[in-house]
Order: sequence, then structure tokens, then C-alpha cells
Amino acid sequence: MEKLRIGIIMGGMSSEREVSLNSGRNVYDHLDGEFYRGVPIFMDADSRFWIIPWQLISQNTTVDMAEHLEAEARAIAYEDLKDEIDFAFISLHGKYGDDGCIQGLLELLRIPYTGPGVLASALGMDKHVQQKILRAEGLDVPRSMIVRRQDWDSDREAVMRDILGGFAPPCFTKPIREGSSIGVARIDDANALAQGIENALAWDNAVLVEEFLDGVEFSAIVLEQDGEARALEVTEIHPQSAYYTYDDKYMPGRCRKFTPPRTIPRDRADAIKAQVVRAFHALGFRSYGRIDGFLLRDGRILITDPNSSSGMAPSSFFFEQAACAGMLPSMMISRLIENALEIHRDKRGPL
Ligand SMILES: Nc1ncnc2c1ncn2[C@@H]1O[C@H](COP(=O)(O)OP(=O)(O)O)[C@@H](O)[C@H]1O
Ligand SMILES: [Mg+2]
Repeated sequence: MEKLRIGIIMGGMSSEREVSLNSGRNVYDHLDGEFYRGVPIFMDADSRFWIIPWQLISQNTTVDMAEHLEAEARAIAYEDLKDEIDFAFISLHGKYGDDGCIQGLLELLRIPYTGPGVLASALGMDKHVQQKILRAEGLDVPRSMIVRRQDWDSDREAVMRDILGGFAPPCFTKPIREGSSIGVARIDDANALAQGIENALAWDNAVLVEEFLDGVEFSAIVLEQDGEARALEVTEIHPQSAYYTYDDKYMPGRCRKFTPPRTIPRDRADAIKAQVVRAFHALGFRSYGRIDGFLLRDGRILITDPNSSSGMAPSSFFFEQAACAGMLPSMMISRLIENALEIHRDKRGPL
């Protein structure tokens, strides 16, 4: 039997390209060789695809990787991708990666891919729109306000007054479409607010200002199995910093994570599982997703960050929760491929 050629796409153009590289090489390493043949594909900073020799995936950064491309890798035009792979495992994160852009390209090329389609991927990226949808679905989300660049540029004093009227510090500022805590700031006094908005505007043209949530942060992977989406075990997060920063997420030994949760009571963990599955369906996610939020001191569960994909480094929530369910990394990766093949077989028009 011919092995299915799985193109693992990593790198990309977003602020999360280094995170993507870590996910991609880990997926490559754990692909079940009995059924699949991995084809590592690097997306460079100019959105070109390169088929890279496996030896290159151990490069430390996307910049190191890029230096080797001309001599050691093979550039490939988008339209030729379908001659090289049968399936795309999207290990990209962030803009142009899990926001619907690559998904649209793969739809046009008729290549099945992991995760949800164009719309749900775009929703997974847009913190403003996803809050509206979740709220309409009856789920609890943080109180928030959007600040657009043109308003900020034309009358920042008025915007500041508006914000301070409804969101007295502590509050959070964040770009509407980023990930890995990039551009996020915790604002502890009014003097820091303008800087928080400016920092977030460096990443997007709109900023979300959110009420500060006082409670325990959690992350929950939802996985489709046997035709039903279910949450794996919930992870409770105890960051080392004032909030869960980029360094807390990716620097070894920074942050403590507990799966199953340590302080969240069992009945609350079960309630979290039920809520994240509702959020998963409300946003149209498919196959898997990672849905994060807070259990507040008053017992309320708030969804803050639903993601249509997940980081897949060895100690990611994805593999930690899978391990808790007795699933090896290779089993999870095969599950995502099998899920996607089934979903793409059944779709009518683009996913
Ligand atoms: N409203 C909030 N209240 C308390 N902490 C928050 C709030 N919003 C974000 N945070 C903290 O900032 C981190 C990053 O914010 P998040 O919205 O999850 O963005 P990202 O998509 O970059 O992960 C969260 O993991 C959490 O620790
Ligand atoms: Mg987050």
C-alpha cells in the first residue's frame, strides 16, 4: 500500500513562526511511519513554500533555516503542491497560518488539511468577533471594548476617557488578532494605558481592552472522536509572571501546569469541559481545538481564548492532555489526519 504523503507545513509569516517550527518538527518526528510519509515544508517570510530535507528541521530558528534554503531545499510553486503531497498537516500558527489564509489556498488546490475550514479558522483568530458569537450562544466572555486605530489617531484623549470610564485598571490590552501573548499587556494603572494600546497597535489595527479576570486560568483541548467532540482533561495554569506571557509559555521550566487540575474542583472541571465543547461548536471548529479561559473566584467560567489549532511542542497542552488520556503523540497526530480525511470526504464545497 502506498503511504499517504503528509506535507507538514511550518514556519510562515506570523509572529509565531518560531513556535510553528517547534510544532512542525515535533509532528514530523511523531508521524506514524507505517501509514504516512512525512514531507517537511517550510513556508518562508515571503510566503513561499520549500520542500526541505529532514536534516534541516533541527535548525534552531526560522532565520537559520532560511539561510539554507537556496542550497539545500527545493522551492515549490503553490499549484505544484498537489503533485508532492496528498494531505497538509498545518503546523503554522497565527496570521496567514491558522486564520483561514492557508486553508483557502488548500481548498483551491483540493488538498485535505488538518483543522477547520476558512471561516472557523478566521473566527479562531479574531478575539473581537469570537466574543460576539460566544456571547450570543449564551457563554460567558470577558467584558471588553474595541479601540480602532483611526479613533485612537484622531482623538486619543476621548478614547482614553471612554476606556477609563468602563475599564478602570487593572485591565488587559491586546491586539485583536495575535497569539502566544504577543502584544498583550496587563495595565495596572492609568498611566500605562496609552503604552498598552500603542503596543497592541504595533500588531494590528484594532485593540481589545478587557476587564481583568481574577481567578484560575485553564486550557482545554477538544477532540472529535467517533463522531463526537469531547474535551480531554483540563489543564490548570500557574504562570510565573503577572500573567501567562510568551516566556512563561515557551521557556523551559517557567510555568507550572497541572493536568488534571489541582485546585479546580472536579465538578467545576466537568462544567469547564461542557462549556468548551459548546464554544467549539459555536465557532464551527472541526477535528480539534484548544479553548482557554478562567474559572473566577465566584465560580463563573469565562472563555477568553478559543483557538482553532494548538501548539504541538512536546510539553504542549495538546500532548500533555493526550498523555493523560493514554494517547501517545503519534496516536493524536494520526487521529487528526484520520479526522480530517473523513471531514473532507463529507464536505460539500469548501469546509
Ligand atoms: N482579561 C484578562 N484577565 C486576566 N488575564 C488575562 C486577560 N486576558 C489575557 N490575560 C492573560 O494574558 C494571556 C494572553 O492573553 P490571550 O487573550 O490568551 O492571548 P493569546 O491569544 O496571545 O494567547 C492569557 O493567557 C492570560 O494569562
Ligand atoms: Mg491565550
